[in-house]
Amino acid sequence: MEKAWSYVFSSLLIFFFLQFIQLQASSSMYTRPPPRSIIFTPHNRSDSEPQQVHISLVGRDHMRISWITQKHAPSIVEYGKTPGKYDASVTGDHTSYHYFFYLSGKIHQATIGPLDPDTNYYYRCSGTGEEFTLKTPPTTFPIEFVVAGDLGQTEWTESTLAHIGSRNYDVLLLPGDLSYADTQQPLWDTFGRFVEPYASSRPWMVTEGNHEIEVVPIIHSQAFTAYNTRWRMPFEESGSKSNLYYSFDVAGVHVVMLGSYTDFDAGSEQYKWLQSDLAKVDRSVTPWIVVCLHAPWYNTNIAHQGEGENMRKAMEELLYQARVDTVLAGHVHAYERFTRVYNNKAEQCGPVHVTIGDGGNREGLALTFKKPNSPLSLFREASFGHGRLTVYNRTHAHWSWHRNDDTDSTVGDEVWLESLAGSSRCGVSVHSRSDDDEL
Ligand SMILES: *[C@@H]1O[C@H](CO)[C@@H](O)[C@H](O)[C@H]1NC(C)=O
Ligand SMILES: *[C@@H]1O[C@H](CO)[C@@H](O)[C@H](O)[C@H]1NC(C)=O
Ligand SMILES: [Fe+2]
Repeated sequence: MEKAWSYVFSSLLIFFFLQFIQLQASSSMYTRPPPRSIIFTPHNRSDSEPQQVHISLVGRDHMRISWITQKHAPSIVEYGKTPGKYDASVTGDHTSYHYFFYLSGKIHQATIGPLDPDTNYYYRCSGTGEEFTLKTPPTTFPIEFVVAGDLGQTEWTESTLAHIGSRNYDVLLLPGDLSYADTQQPLWDTFGRFVEPYASSRPWMVTEGNHEIEVVPIIHSQAFTAYNTRWRMPFEESGSKSNLYYSFDVAGVHVVMLGSYTDFDAGSEQYKWLQSDLAKVDRSVTPWIVVCLHAPWYNTNIAHQGEGENMRKAMEELLYQARVDTVLAGHVHAYERFTRVYNNKAEQCGPVHVTIGDGGNREGLALTFKKPNSPLSLFREASFGHGRLTVYNRTHAHWSWHRNDDTDSTVGDEVWLESLAGSSRCGVSVHSRSDDDEL
């Protein structure tokens, strides 16, 4: 009991301390509209029952299942293609972490597979509780990605997720800022329960934002403790040594998840990894390259101006030389789409940059854009919503932005994208370079 009170007391102290720092940093910058309230999703299952279930892709045909139990329970996943009938099972492992006075539940993970593509599987964790259903992505086009950044767990987030779930899709990409727990560890648990209906049924592939750092001087000096433990991504499989950046292939798309809050300069681990990762891409197998990161490299909003600039200077050339098709960022709580750009100029062989940091978190929207607008910025609007990237075939994909107009979802912006792999003028060939010279 005493422990609980000291936890509450010290949590409050930290909370006010952080609010104070945030006020100092942002009070004169811009005004956001009143955000909607946080939804605290309760823990209403038994302590040995799985909760906060979420899944992520591992390799070509495996899926990592992650879940939490308050009490000790086996790290087993049973699964099969028929409801209630499990003909396979895998035992994984579990861990837990300390954060100040907080001790997490048992965080379990187990990797199931090989799984058939585009197929429903029914599964149960720890041998007890609810049955969950997941659908594996297809191995061939078309494939549909949903993109939602800066999610949080408010009534706006609820509306974004409801719109996401109202139409089928294969994989969710989250370019950073998940729970907005901001050191209040129980908020990672409420977030896990809040997103479970969605994150247990489709793979959620995430990268970190600034809200995942959670370093408090003296009290907790290790960064990304909760994020790395709870949201483990398939980094080893892509040769990365860090959960903060990795890549994966799905149905003809090579997706690169970069880390805005770890070293990225030339010579850094991340830089060297990115260089070798991009060099390995075979555009005849994955004609599309999509990059996600948190702090945008192109941004005409007053909010977070210049925060992605050092990373852009360090890494933009690598992405440009690799003919990356699109870069999807978060951080700025608004939507913005640029033309194809490289080095601050319009460039037909550069990626289309999009900011989609409008998932619905408690901080509200970034309302003020710079005037006059840059000719590189083609569409910008400060509203909550989500994006969809539907890749139809080797050459054509459709991007759309779906705004939360209260309870309805409205297409606010859309554009067709042509893969740079199919574009001979950008020097990408699905054959070797020497074949190309004859053209
Ligand atoms: C438990 O909480 C979830 C999410 O708030 C809710 O949907 C569900 O109905 C609750 N179940 C019970 C048994 O109260
Ligand atoms: C690719 O998809 C687009 C959009 O559906 C379509 O217009 C185009 O003809 C397709 N190309 C091929 C080669 O099928
Ligand atoms: Fe952020």
